Amino acid sequence: MTSLAGKSVLLIVGGGIAAYKAHELVRLLKTRGATVRIILTKAAEQFVTPLSLSSLSGEKVYTSLFSLTDEIEMGHIQLSRSADLVVVAPATADLMAKMAHGLADDLASTALLATDKRVLAAPAMNVRMWSHAATERNVESLKHDGVSIVGPNEGEMACGEFGPGRMAEPNQILTAIVEMLKPRAQPLAGKKVLITAGPTREPIDPVRFISNHSSGKQGYAIAKAAAGLGAETVLVSGPVSLPIPPGVQVMPVETAQEMLDICEGEIPVDIAIFTAAVADWRVVTESSEKLKKTGGAAPNLTLAENPDILATIARSAKRPRIVVGFAAETEHVTEHAVQKLEKKGCDLIVANDVSRTSGVFGGDRNTVHLVSVSGVEDWPNMSKDEVAQKLMERLAQMLVPQQKAVE
Ligand code: CTP
Repeated sequence: MTSLAGKSVLLIVGGGIAAYKAHELVRLLKTRGATVRIILTKAAEQFVTPLSLSSLSGEKVYTSLFSLTDEIEMGHIQLSRSADLVVVAPATADLMAKMAHGLADDLASTALLATDKRVLAAPAMNVRMWSHAATERNVESLKHDGVSIVGPNEGEMACGEFGPGRMAEPNQILTAIVEMLKPRAQPLAGKKVLITAGPTREPIDPVRFISNHSSGKQGYAIAKAAAGLGAETVLVSGPVSLPIPPGVQVMPVETAQEMLDICEGEIPVDIAIFTAAVADWRVVTESSEKLKKTGGAAPNLTLAENPDILATIARSAKRPRIVVGFAAETEHVTEHAVQKLEKKGCDLIVANDVSRTSGVFGGDRNTVHLVSVSGVEDWPNMSKDEVAQKLMERLAQMLVPQQKAVE
């Protein structure tokens, strides 16, 4: 039984019939030695009482945003920051909608918006509410913001309907909590990782450019994983609309030349990973004025090849110890990747199929093949976050072989 001694959990109880299970969850957490502070929403007070929960937790239960004594004893900001983990159980449809939209109109939602800690939500609601498009959107947004979700389970509901929507059992929630509170190995502490991501934009005139469909998602996920393993992480990013991962330094760029200049300024590094979909060509002479239609022939754009950022860094005097390239291919995926490994001088190529039917560009999943001199390793279809985590753990092992990446 993993001890949670010294760990502090902020449990936010939403107003649903499953709120009664909060008692058992508090009991389990206390058995493991955790400190449990509890916030009840107004609706939750209709299902459970502060008295019963404070008897179990041995702590004051918080209910109101505007209680002066609470602000003196422990303000709502501190309440959310002093915890190691915030758990929302039950996470009602209403509470999740508030979380997804950043509303802060009561103590629970304010604490959730103010926290800098990881958040675990255990949804509980009627089956139709759970499958409603609005809830699906909200769950997606929460996952995107890094909120972990446990459950819901399928089964008979308090309202008599059957389907997914029952809150995960306290034991399941406890398992998820233990997993999230596990000390994380930091095998890349003291190491520097450089990552390129997103597309580049090569200007034609002040309003037009050459670019591509890269979303930057895989590169951002790798940066998040690298920072999570303790690396000083620099992400040189073309224009994308993604949040900056925690602990990552982002250097925004537009063109391939700018991306190369920044990368050259950042080396030496321990690991460099080139996920950017660099535009292969740029327009030789960018027009300083918007090109106008003349009613006749279309303008002729003279293109020049962009510098190869990966090959330049891989062959530089300050070569990173490990250089990883990505190969975006639409056919003969691994064959092309094997050629690129040699041509670009890198240690590893992560090859992926970006044909229209693969859904890789802009999608959240990826099927990759790891190509090195020792052969090709096919990875199963995974989320881009999982690919990132697995790749960074592998690179950490290559860099620091005596250490196991994850304990
Ligand atoms: N790359 C780079 N600079 C470039 C082009 C590509 O750093 N100017 C990097 C990419 O970030 C990726 C790898 O090289 O890691 C392979 O990119 P890809 O687009 O698959 O290959 P290309 O070199 O563009 O080759 P081709 O267009 O022939 O497939």
